Amino acid sequence: MAMTRFLSASAAVVALVLVGCGGGKSKGAAKPMGKDMGMMKMEMGMAAPSPQTQALLEQIKGYDSWPKFAENQAPALSKGHMKMYVLAFHNQVVADAIAANTLPLPDGALIVKQNMKTADAAPEALTIMSKQGGAWYYAETSPDGQVITMNGMALEGPKVAMCTDCHDTASDNDYVFTHKFPR
Ligand code: HEC
Repeated sequence: MAMTRFLSASAAVVALVLVGCGGGKSKGAAKPMGKDMGMMKMEMGMAAPSPQTQALLEQIKGYDSWPKFAENQAPALSKGHMKMYVLAFHNQVVADAIAANTLPLPDGALIVKQNMKTADAAPEALTIMSKQGGAWYYAETSPDGQVITMNGMALEGPKVAMCTDCHDTASDNDYVFTHKFPR
């Protein structure tokens, strides 16, 4: 992958998570905001979740008491979601697959990652992966359940280029970075 593409994708994620800032207080009143990041012009905003994302948000209620990956037990500086601290949680479906060392993860697998400005700050955004019909569904939301938008496109669905540009590089590990499954 070209380095420039990698870097601009990283920068975009930073903008995305920054948009989540204050999401807990803003109650849907967040204003769209422009971010001029070098060559890229991004208009960030928030939108109501699609019915599919709404169903996903119901499924992840209480996610912060779910298991964490052995590799990410505490907030750690992200290698991809640049300059953010990240902490990922996963459901029992993923825990069972880790215990059995099996890939690909089956339908029903859920991973929810908190994105924080500092290691002890409250999450500004959630990045979510949900295995449905044999493929990952991606979503980025504010902590209070608004979907983040970039240039008017909601970051939710099976083909969010913003997410898959990067996660596709881990296709040999079912698109997951944090835990390496043995091959
Ligand atoms: C620039 C590369 C990049 C982009 C773009 C990206 N990610 Fe990630 N993602 C990573 C990396 C690297 C990790 C491993 C933890 C870390 O260092 O942040 C990760 C971790 C995750 C995890 C925890 C599971 C795992 O794979 O480790 C989830 C969930 C996730 N990302 C969702 C998303 C979503 C949703 C989007 C799009 C809105 C997205 N990511 C965009 C690189 C990226």
